[in-house]
Amino acid sequence: MKPYGPLMVEHRLIERMVGVLKKRKKIDDDLIKKTVDFFRNYADNRHHGKEEKILFKRLEKKDMTPGLKKIMKRLIKEHEQGRAIIKSLEKNDKDAKKLIKDLIKLYPPHIDTEDNDFFLPCMQYLSEKEQKKMVDEYKKVDKKYPESKYRKMVEQLIK
Ligand SMILES: [Fe+2]
Ligand SMILES: [Fe+2]
Repeated sequence: MKPYGPLMVEHRLIERMVGVLKKRKKIDDDLIKKTVDFFRNYADNRHHGKEEKILFKRLEKKDMTPGLKKIMKRLIKEHEQGRAIIKSLEKNDKDAKKLIKDLIKLYPPHIDTEDNDFFLPCMQYLSEKEQKKMVDEYKKVDKKYPESKYRKMVEQLIK
């Protein structure tokens, strides 16, 4: 399995959650609580955790093109923006509707860049052995933040 495979699968669930947020007209406490949990633990700790601590960490040591290096910097910055939005949403210190709008705006282009302009061209810098090792390392993260919990959450919200 290629190391971007599981990341792309996670992107699809994040997109579905963004879809839920787009459709909701009323933002209640339950939705805020679930949004904070989903984006903090699934999108950030699990998904960005794999990207930053496993994939990007290795790529940092490689002699990638300036273009790819620039994209990676931007991706990391966007992860930080996502974290800040969730922090505000949890603290309830800004307008929740606006924060949700910011999330809806942040994620789709971020995912699009990773899926279409970043993951694939990066693979040439990683040996088969490194790629395999990364997929093994993912498993530790997956155990801490189980996919099934968040998949269920999104499915319930879609209903
Ligand atoms: Fe990302
Ligand atoms: Fe991603």
